[in-house]
Order: sequence, then C-alpha cells, then structure tokens
Amino acid sequence: MNTKIYPDSGVELRGFIAKHYDAAMIAGTLGMYTGFIKRAVSDMGINPNDHILDLGYGTGRNAKLMAGYLSQKGRITGLDISKHMERQFLQHFNGDKRVEFINRRIDRPFNLKRIYDKVFISFVIHGFPHDVRYTVLQNAYDHLKQAGSFFILDYAEFDMDTMPALPRYIFKKVECRYAFDFIKRDWKEIVKAHGFETVRKHFYFRRYVRLLHAEKKR
Ligand SMILES: C[S@@+](CC[C@H](N)C(=O)[O-])C[C@H]1O[C@@H](n2cnc3c(N)ncnc32)[C@H](O)[C@@H]1O
Repeated sequence: MNTKIYPDSGVELRGFIAKHYDAAMIAGTLGMYTGFIKRAVSDMGINPNDHILDLGYGTGRNAKLMAGYLSQKGRITGLDISKHMERQFLQHFNGDKRVEFINRRIDRPFNLKRIYDKVFISFVIHGFPHDVRYTVLQNAYDHLKQAGSFFILDYAEFDMDTMPALPRYIFKKVECRYAFDFIKRDWKEIVKAHGFETVRKHFYFRRYVRLLHAEKKR
C-alpha cells in the first residue's frame, strides 16, 4: 500500500504509527485503552463457537481478546490491507489455526464465500468517505447469518463544539475530515436503512465512544 486509497483518510496507517499502533493508542489515552478495549470485547457477548469477521483488523490485539472467549471451534477472520498489521498479526497468532488474516480491501464489495455469527469493525468506518461506508455496511450484511450481530466500535455522535477543550483539541489534531462528518450522522438510522436493527449501545470515554450492537433482520 504505497499510495493512499483515500488521501484524506486517517485510518490508512503507515510508518511509525502502523508499526507501533497499540503502543500509540495506550500512550495517547494515558493507559486507558487497555481496559476500555477489554470491556468493549466483553460487551460483545462472544459465544465459544462463534465465527467472527473483523473488518480492518489492525494488529490483532482485539482479536487476541476475542479469541480468549472462543473454544477450538470458534474462528476469527481478520481483513486488512496493511503489511505492518499482517506482521503484527503473525506475532500475535503464530500457530493458532482459529485465526486467519486476509489481505483484502473492505471498502469495495468482496465475497469470502462463508458467513459469520458476528461482524466487528473497530475504529475504521469513520475514516472513509460517506458513500464508501455504505459498501462496508453491505459487506458486513452479506457476510452475516440471519439474526447475526454487527458491532461498530467507533466514535459516538457528538457535538465537537460542546466538548471540553483538551479532548476537542486532541480530536481535531488526530482525526481526519471524514471523522468530523462521521460524528454528525445518526448511525442507528443508517444501519436500519441497511437491514440492521440496533439492539444495544455501550458507551465509553464519557460517551464519546460507542459499541453499536445491531442485528441482521430476520
Ligand atoms: C485505526 S486502525 C484500527 C485497527 C483495529 N480495528 C483496532 O481497533 O485496533 C484502522 C485499520 O484499518 C485498516 N484499513 C484502512 N483502510 C482499509 C481498507 N480500505 N481495507 C481494509 N483495511 C483497511 C488499516 O490498515 C488499519 O489497520
């Protein structure tokens, strides 16, 4: 991935940040990231035999937590386009046959020829242009079982202007323009229009971050 697919996107990670993404997240949240992500994965209610598709998989840290809930029959498929992430995946999962990494773009239609109990996307969809997000939602829909669960872990809707000064400064500094658009949209309505019914919302980081749990309508 030499040139960016979406030049203004902040989720196509490269260089130092891609190599040290987990450490950067922990440092950037003053150590709170570790506890937060454990809680979010726990809130997914993973069953031992679940097959989970992780879109924009990252380093495998989230998958490592998810794998902790799985039996030998459980499976995780992670899709990502970054070579740096693939390398870190191999470090996390060397020899664990339950987990696989596929180098695949999630922003255009794909067909893995299998369906999953759960589809998870964490801090990726906010970084795409809005029309591209619909393709991601369609990919999630197409790869879920009927009544399967779709989880979007990402920013919640909020008004940047009412944010306290420090988090507002950090958000503006680190986020791309697509994220500013993402937080203004009604995601419950958007997923509904794509065939999902919101089941639950879990909030973290003073309600700036949310795990949206939606179900594929029967
Ligand atoms: C901000 S990171 C989040 C990683 C992980 N989901 C997490 O929560 O730690 C965004 C990830 O999305 C991947 N990504 C960006 N654009 C992508 C695309 N078009 N197709 C697949 N993966 C993509 C990046 O390589 C990166 O690993």
